[in-house]
Amino acid sequence: MKKNISVAIDGPSAAGKSTIAKMVAKKENFIYIDTGAMYRCVAYYCLTQKIDLNDEKAVEQAIEHIQIRLTPDNKVYLNDEDVSNQIRQDQVSLGASCVSKYQAVRSFLVDEQRKMAKAGNVILDGRDIGTVVLPNANLKIYQIASVETRAKRRYLENLERGLDADLETIKKEIEERDYQDTHREISPLKKAEDAIELDTSSLTLEEVVEQVLTLIQKAKEE
Ligand code: DC
Repeated sequence: MKKNISVAIDGPSAAGKSTIAKMVAKKENFIYIDTGAMYRCVAYYCLTQKIDLNDEKAVEQAIEHIQIRLTPDNKVYLNDEDVSNQIRQDQVSLGASCVSKYQAVRSFLVDEQRKMAKAGNVILDGRDIGTVVLPNANLKIYQIASVETRAKRRYLENLERGLDADLETIKKEIEERDYQDTHREISPLKKAEDAIELDTSSLTLEEVVEQVLTLIQKAKEE
């Protein structure tokens, strides 16, 4: 019987993790799980319900009313509403980084992610996949890029989605999230010891995909 393969891609904000993960998932016919989208859903729910994101107890209570569904065509549903675009707004990005420091939020989402990851061959991207969610993943990649490259990529992505885009604001927001995500107490962003670092600053998307596919091939043979 063929074994199921799990791939973990971690790294800082806007390093291109989800773009790569989606492309690789399509080529390999893997299930893609965008864990950042799940933190974004929690933040988006709180923002729309006027729940103070700094009020840990209130956010903890809000989780009870949240159901998240990720579909094979990469849509994100929050309580049966398609919020795929809304959760990409800058305010939600920062909000997601804020709520992701709470233990209750992390426990809830990590449980969900582990359940989803049992479905077959999977590729998950996030901040704690290789360190916490799937410490036994068959392949762990730590994807990085300079802050300038990341800001430019996010800027172009926002333009494409028809969202507000100001390069300097995006750069500041990325730096702020980098700080928050690496300095939080619970499951901070860090490279798993057995992760392979991939600096994509000077690589094209196709080159990164090619490298990841080669690594997956190796993992399959192990
Ligand atoms: O990957 P993203 O930019 O969509 O993630 C949004 C925020 O969610 C990010 O700033 C930190 C948090 N996050 C997390 O703490 N753990 C994950 N596995 C994924 C995201």
